[in-house]
Amino acid sequence: MQIVVALTGASGVIYGIRMLEALKKLKVESHLVMSEWAEKNIEIETDLTAEYVRSLASRYYDDSDMAAPISSGSFKVNGMAVIPCSMKTLSGIANAVDDSLITRAAGVCIKESRKLVVVPRETPLSRIHLDNMVKVAQNGVIVLPAMPGFYHRPRTIDDLINHVVGKTLDQFGIEHKLFARWTGGKNLAKKQVIDR
Ligand SMILES: Cc1cc2nc3c(=O)[nH]c(=O)nc-3n(C[C@H](O)[C@H](O)[C@H](O)COP(=O)(O)O)c2cc1C
Repeated sequence: MQIVVALTGASGVIYGIRMLEALKKLKVESHLVMSEWAEKNIEIETDLTAEYVRSLASRYYDDSDMAAPISSGSFKVNGMAVIPCSMKTLSGIANAVDDSLITRAAGVCIKESRKLVVVPRETPLSRIHLDNMVKVAQNGVIVLPAMPGFYHRPRTIDDLINHVVGKTLDQFGIEHKLFARWTGGKNLAKKQVIDR
């Protein structure tokens, strides 16, 4: 299994970092690209470094490197997650503006009918944002907003982060224990073993 993971400059860069940590733990090959503002948001929003984030990935590419393998449909990957996805990158994907490696690799996934999951983070959403989400969804893209559920009884911010990341991993059929699944009854979710 080979997954492209793109981090962009939306708030919630920790979602992308957690995804890379989970893939590493689960021994899934990850191909990382970070936009300039993703790197800046690592500094702004976390105590981590871009170097640490790069170290989590199997391979790393610069967002300006249009000659990277993931820029071509002939390089086989199972899919791609843009997590978090800024409204700018969402617009680039929706309108096929392949001027960065992130938007190009996403466009490759669409044209090759590979799984592409975008995890948008913005609020409130304008009509333009919503139109772009509809446009990508009409092209087979999974729009998975960074909206954690509460039915698994989250106790920490990590629990909320893990719910969004776990839902993203579910889209690729990757087994994980990032959150307790709903089993149908009050308090049942609490009994499951989860990775905290
Ligand atoms: C601290 C911070 C938080 C931001 N949060 C968001 C956000 O939640 N959603 C969004 O679309 N843009 C957000 N932005 C703006 C993007 O970083 C900006 O539009 C940038 O150009 C996105 O470029 P990229 O998609 O290439 O990363 C934020 C910027 C900063 C500095």
